[in-house]
Amino acid sequence: MLHLIVAMSKQGAIGLDGKLPWHHSGDLKHFKEVTWNQKVLMGRKTLAKLPRVLPNREIYCVTRQKDVSLPSGQEVTIINDFEGFCQQHQHSDDLFYIAGGASIYQVALPYVSEMIVSVINYDQEADTFFPSFIQEGFRLSRREKKEDFEILYYRR
Ligand SMILES: NC(=O)c1ccc[n+]([C@@H]2O[C@H](COP(=O)([O-])OP(=O)(O)OC[C@H]3O[C@@H](n4cnc5c(N)ncnc54)[C@H](OP(=O)(O)O)[C@@H]3O)[C@@H](O)[C@H]2O)c1
Repeated sequence: MLHLIVAMSKQGAIGLDGKLPWHHSGDLKHFKEVTWNQKVLMGRKTLAKLPRVLPNREIYCVTRQKDVSLPSGQEVTIINDFEGFCQQHQHSDDLFYIAGGASIYQVALPYVSEMIVSVINYDQEADTFFPSFIQEGFRLSRREKKEDFEILYYRR
């Protein structure tokens, strides 16, 4: 089973200069709560920018390289055949959280059964955007208003 977690602006912005465009402690707390003790999968570029190890999570790194060494020292399981991985785990009992970046979301979207989308109030510069999912058959199942952002839950 593949669930996707992302924080985006209303315009779909997710990144700037290889990092998040914002610092949003409420959303970071939400990410930690959702992914705590879970399997979390990210692209090599996103993982390379993380300043420190993400504790209590089993991290999977999507890369075309045979091995990677991350500045944070995070230990990871390597995934080379990401499309094959998505096909294999689309209906499995194991739950994996797909946590970006853009290239990873793009490949995973057709295989994801739930999306957890934080909508951040941000209208400044960005260079990385979430792929369009209008045609992907998701329906909004729940929305949760937080103090300064909103969390949308989509299913299909
Ligand atoms: N707002 C959010 O929730 C959120 C979440 C995550 C990331 N982001 C942002 O997204 C941006 C990074 O996104 P990005 O698209 O540039 O990079 P990315 O998706 O994090 O990583 C790209 C790398 O993943 C590997 N890769 C991609 N597709 C692959 C495939 N089909 N098979 C095997 N390996 C594959 C390649 O690694 P190799 O080059 O090693 O082969 C590629 O260079 C950053 O700004 C980051 O902060 C935002």
